[in-house]
Amino acid sequence: MNEIRIFCPATIANISCGFDVLGVALDAVGDEMVVRKTSDKGIKITKLTGQDLPLETEKNVAGVAGLALLENSDYKGGFEIEIYKKIKAGSGIGSSAASSTGAVWAMNKLLGEPFSTLELVKFAMEGERLASGVAHADNVAPALFGGFTLVRSYDPLDVIPIPSPDELFATVIHPQIEVKTSDSRSVLKTNITLAQGIKQWGNVGGLVAGLFTSDYDLIGRSLVDHIIEPIRSILIPGFENVKTEAIKSGALGCGISGSGPSIFAFSKGEATAKKVATSMKEVYQNIGIDYDVHVSKINAAGIKEI
Ligand code: HSE
Repeated sequence: MNEIRIFCPATIANISCGFDVLGVALDAVGDEMVVRKTSDKGIKITKLTGQDLPLETEKNVAGVAGLALLENSDYKGGFEIEIYKKIKAGSGIGSSAASSTGAVWAMNKLLGEPFSTLELVKFAMEGERLASGVAHADNVAPALFGGFTLVRSYDPLDVIPIPSPDELFATVIHPQIEVKTSDSRSVLKTNITLAQGIKQWGNVGGLVAGLFTSDYDLIGRSLVDHIIEPIRSILIPGFENVKTEAIKSGALGCGISGSGPSIFAFSKGEATAKKVATSMKEVYQNIGIDYDVHVSKINAAGIKEI
């Protein structure tokens, strides 16, 4: 096989209480990429549609992630990459992660899968380092493993796949403003109090337990962020209203998707998730901000060939 076309899912990182450690892959929105082997060494981004992003290998997250893989491989040739972006950059649903993971996943397939999924996470994290200044793994891990993932440790890297309850649906609304991850990280404090930590890790444990046991009420009770959301939500117009309306419409919980400005909610069942979408849309219609909205099942498989 010399060429592969793939779907690279959007992802929700943090999931309220799990800053930089929890993430989940979505089904309803994602990019497409075509990756092919070439006899020329190195990586060339030959096509990029849908977003205005750099084509130079060293400035493109897919290029940088791909180079990280090549440096660790004895393959003598190279790759061409075409990227068809559907996920907007700076939307908070893992646009850079989709490109970084897609590149390394496809290259690994074309090379006969010499690398483990965990190794691919490490390569893709180099793309995140380029995009945000920090090599966080909470978007790239769920894109590669599928479903929910917990980054239990960064050093050494330890990623734990977590099961997705069958009836869990996500609603994601993207108000059409751009928030760069590097900017929304720069507003964060670097210290927290013990009292904040106790509340936060209680919720992380609760959320993981709820996902393992399909306990929807426990999932809902645990979707609380005492540390990041109070600071970042100020950057997102209408955030508190969207959250209030989503919960009123039956969502289990609601919070900032990744570094924002997208806002996500989880619901039990697709019908509720659609009702939540309608109530979220109304908030932005009333304040006159354009939006995209997605209702999605959890994507248990992650990146796939199409
Ligand atoms: N954990 C990262 C952050 C995710 O919140 O900055 C960025 O998508």
